[in-house]
Amino acid sequence: MEKQLATWQNFASTDAHSVGADLRSFASVETLINELRPAVPVHCVRPAPLQDAAQWFLRNFPGKVLYAVKCNPEPATLRYLTQAGITHFDVGSLNEMRLVRRVAPFAQLHFMHPVKNRAAIREAYFKFGVRDFVLDSREELQKIIEATNAATDLRLHVRLAIPRGVAQHELVSKFGALPALAIELLQAADKIAAKVGLCFHVGSQCLHPEAYRRGILLAAQVAKKSGVAIDILDIGGGFPAAYPGSTIPPLARYIEAIKAALVEIALPATTEVWCEPGRALVAEAGSLIVQVELRKGDALYINDGVYGSLFDAGILNNRYPVKLLRASGSEHKAAFKSFKLFGPTCDSIDVMRGPYVLPEDVVEGDWLEIGQLGAYCTSMRSQFNGLSGESITVEVWDEPLLRMPDYQPKTDRRVVRPDTVFNLNMLLQRREERETEMN
Ligand SMILES: Cc1ncc(COP(=O)(O)O)c(C=O)c1O
Repeated sequence: MEKQLATWQNFASTDAHSVGADLRSFASVETLINELRPAVPVHCVRPAPLQDAAQWFLRNFPGKVLYAVKCNPEPATLRYLTQAGITHFDVGSLNEMRLVRRVAPFAQLHFMHPVKNRAAIREAYFKFGVRDFVLDSREELQKIIEATNAATDLRLHVRLAIPRGVAQHELVSKFGALPALAIELLQAADKIAAKVGLCFHVGSQCLHPEAYRRGILLAAQVAKKSGVAIDILDIGGGFPAAYPGSTIPPLARYIEAIKAALVEIALPATTEVWCEPGRALVAEAGSLIVQVELRKGDALYINDGVYGSLFDAGILNNRYPVKLLRASGSEHKAAFKSFKLFGPTCDSIDVMRGPYVLPEDVVEGDWLEIGQLGAYCTSMRSQFNGLSGESITVEVWDEPLLRMPDYQPKTDRRVVRPDTVFNLNMLLQRREERETEMN
């Protein structure tokens, strides 16, 4: 079995044509287990749900869709998003820029992190052709001006702090200018930039569409008071993904709320609207297969954990769907029982409490598929204990453990085991079908 160390060097040094294109492909996770019997964690990328999500956003969002790379920088994921039509990327570092350039040389990069170091700004502007920069302080504005040699073609976006809402992971305590400062920054940016924008982030896994309306109304008030005609209104990420125990409104309701708010503020037709989804685009397309190394009562010790791909499951106590896999087949007759999972390091915070409901006869050597891990999973891995870095990434063509109703495909597209060329043809064919449907 070919093992792969998924590090940044690895991600960023692969050449443009092969990046993410050389993954082994399996018809289902069961086939994968039978063929690989993997002793290291396996990251499954499901191309079809990725494309469904990307195309849903491109069809329904009333503006430009930027993918937030931090959420999942895995090259095959970026490649499939690009094939589905995503051509704009919200990047937060030089490594993310290098990576996106390799996967999608013609994609547009937008540096949407409110705090950047000078060298990164300089390289972004002069080497990567980045023109969009976010700021939420006078100091950052000055830094951008100096690092770009007072460029006159900048698009400067002021990040506005919006009141804490109903998102599971708030971002407002770290970034965002309060209205008075945002007004001052907009006026200052307007004097030197080619275009100015306002942006905000409602927080990740936002559970109520109203949060976007409130953000849009506040942005409109700030813009009005500043006297600056903004060119771009960027409503950020935050769109939710489906997780066990979390009730989320259909994504269509978020789009309705956003559109209604844009009408309410009478946004001029010349103002572009952008969004930067991460989680909602990629969560359901990624899953993780781990192996049980020991069972102690209701505790399963597995080969990945909070220092690897399960940071959010452990530290944030997020819940994920789970399925038992055995080389002999996935049919289980045993009753179900709740388990907690321990990761492979020596640290006792390396625990995922779940609960994870599994057949009660789970034993050492079994595998578990943990679903909805396409977001904030691979990007969180560390090498702590020398245990967590090693993994394999593959493509899988069966259905994910959970699906957003909005993304459900109209036709059943379960396919027999495809090879890489077949995958690509199928994707192109599906894309053409979608385009015909849209026209
Ligand atoms: C600036 C910015 N944009 C977009 C995102 C993506 O957010 P989400 O994954 O909640 O859609 C984040 C996440 O932290 C972010 O910081």
